[in-house]
Amino acid sequence: MKILVTGGTGYIGSHTVVELQQQGFEVVIVDNLSNSQAGVVDSIKKITGIRPHFEQFDLANSDKTSEFFRRHYDIKGVIHFAAFKAVGESVEKPLLYYRNNLVSLMNILDSMIANNVQNLVFSSSCTVYGQPDELPVSENAPIKKAESPYGNTKQISEEILQDTIRSSKIQTIALRYFNPIGAHETALIGELPLGIPNNLVPFITQTAIGLRQQLSVFGDNYNTPDGTAIRDYIHVVDLAKAHVVAVTRMIEDKMKEPFEVFNLGTGNGYSVLDVIKSFEKVSGQKLNYKIVDRRAGDVEKVWADSTFSNEELGWKASKELDEMTASAWKWEKAYRAKVSQ
Ligand SMILES: NC(=O)c1ccc[n+]([C@@H]2O[C@H](COP(=O)([O-])OP(=O)(O)OC[C@H]3O[C@@H](n4cnc5c(N)ncnc54)[C@H](O)[C@@H]3O)[C@@H](O)[C@H]2O)c1
Repeated sequence: MKILVTGGTGYIGSHTVVELQQQGFEVVIVDNLSNSQAGVVDSIKKITGIRPHFEQFDLANSDKTSEFFRRHYDIKGVIHFAAFKAVGESVEKPLLYYRNNLVSLMNILDSMIANNVQNLVFSSSCTVYGQPDELPVSENAPIKKAESPYGNTKQISEEILQDTIRSSKIQTIALRYFNPIGAHETALIGELPLGIPNNLVPFITQTAIGLRQQLSVFGDNYNTPDGTAIRDYIHVVDLAKAHVVAVTRMIEDKMKEPFEVFNLGTGNGYSVLDVIKSFEKVSGQKLNYKIVDRRAGDVEKVWADSTFSNEELGWKASKELDEMTASAWKWEKAYRAKVSQ
């Protein structure tokens, strides 16, 4: 059973490729390496013993995308991770984000229709909920106006998918991720942000390893128990496993609607200080951080109602916060040791 994983050398994609291979799927990766490295393919092989087929090209290029699908007409499903994801950069370069994230999706859909490939799993995000009126936030919560062009690409993508499904045989599962963190237990793959990390956990581990001087905690005057913002952190391997469940659900024809949406979170909210404390505990290190002003565009608190995904997918996130921060730290140390050799 051949599955195309776009963005498969990236953070979530690489962990998903491992889980797919371990469940017996044949995986084909397409990635243009705009935010990842070719060496990830070797690391995947070290973990699973199987080298996934890898092609490097830009999915925003329609000719290359359709030529690829003509050669791989036997693909049974597509898991579409490839996208730009830096919120701040999307504010500065909105057209880059709209072009990359939306044109890639449309090219893939064109090729899927042309080659009768029907199953698509799409990487969406909890950013579509903005600051929800009710917590935990369920899949039925209203979509709020996006805070950034990046967030808007996820909302527009979900709309493009719903419209395309009405006029074709394609079916889609949109997975709305909360905050993926952590790394594979082997420490052979993990999150590798190019440049200054936007997300909390890579910033923590890079500060602890000495790459960054100090972590800034954006705001301690939120309406939360310790004043810092709350998120639902989910281990990337738990997240990856949900993709295997989703793609299997489609292939086995178990979808109840041609467009389904699932939250992928643990259902638990942790504050920034909770994450820092967890990191300090598992690493035995004191972290150099300071409280600074709030950052524009950050929501105060959000965590998932995961009842629907737990019941309907039969999937549940199993890893606790300490396991997440410990695996992220193990990965940071292993990666820095490798590159300094
Ligand atoms: N990491 C998060 O916190 C998070 C949260 C919610 C949603 N998401 C979404 O999940 C998906 C995967 O995120 P990630 O954290 O693994 O990001 P990532 O940057 O590590 O992986 C994305 C991969 O896609 C590739 N890519 C980008 N544009 C491409 C193009 N036009 N053609 C071919 N390859 C292209 C990049 O080189 C990269 O390897 C993205 O769609 C992202 O928006 C991520």
